Amino acid sequence: MLTMNNIGKIYQTEMVQTHALRDFNLQVNEGEFIAVTGPSGSGKTTFLNIAGMLEPFSTGQYLLDGVDVGKLNDNQRADLRNQKIGFIFQGFNLIPDLNLYENVEVPLRYRGIKASERKRRIEQCLEQVGLASRAKHLPQQLSGGQQQRVAIARALAGEPRFLLADEPTGNLDSLMARQVMELLEQINRDGATIVMVTHDAELARRAPRNIQVVDGKLADFTLYQGAPTANAHVLEGV
Ligand SMILES: Nc1ncnc2c1ncn2[C@@H]1O[C@H](COP(=O)(O)OP(=O)(O)O)[C@@H](O)[C@H]1O
Ligand SMILES: [Mg+2]
Repeated sequence: MLTMNNIGKIYQTEMVQTHALRDFNLQVNEGEFIAVTGPSGSGKTTFLNIAGMLEPFSTGQYLLDGVDVGKLNDNQRADLRNQKIGFIFQGFNLIPDLNLYENVEVPLRYRGIKASERKRRIEQCLEQVGLASRAKHLPQQLSGGQQQRVAIARALAGEPRFLLADEPTGNLDSLMARQVMELLEQINRDGATIVMVTHDAELARRAPRNIQVVDGKLADFTLYQGAPTANAHVLEGV
């Protein structure tokens, strides 16, 4: 599904050049659930943003379902992102003045999806995250865990095959973090491929595959916890 070959990312500010990623190689196969860990500043968010086509990379090649992302123009990239990718952020990024229903609706409006289809998807996704009865509530009337579930519903409403989550449990207590993890596991069983950055070692261990980013590179070891056949399959691609 995703192949990164020698991806490099340099942030150039007035005084300094930061190599956020260098020679970053990764293969993600359809249906995987991968937890990404690594020290602060190691490039995890940069990797996720590039994977989600939210920012450009400096060097290397990124293939998403065989499409060479580096060769797309802005519109083509936005279309591909809308078709395939859902993003979940640590800080939820909900709009405070909009109720839950309207928050989930925002990206669907952007995509030009018609009202009846929007309604169907919003109701289905709020149901899926257990918040159907709260559709008229404002974000501030919810707990942190519930707000993150709204953000997940918003990502799911786009019916993404590829879900990227940047520390989705970073602002949650351990009980709520486990509930969000269980929801992500269900979404993965339903068919979405998930890459989740996390600081939480316990949650990372629950994911079938763990990878670690250190100094902008994939660390030498990658931990596979799947069946032996799955290991062989994955290792081939690395
Ligand atoms: N917009 C930016 N401008 C300049 N430097 C950045 C920017 N975003 C990230 N960086 C730098 O790139 C490196 C990797 O950052 P990041 O991907 O956010 O790491 P992580 O998510 O692992 O904490 C860090 O040194 C960070 O300071
Ligand atoms: Mg980060």
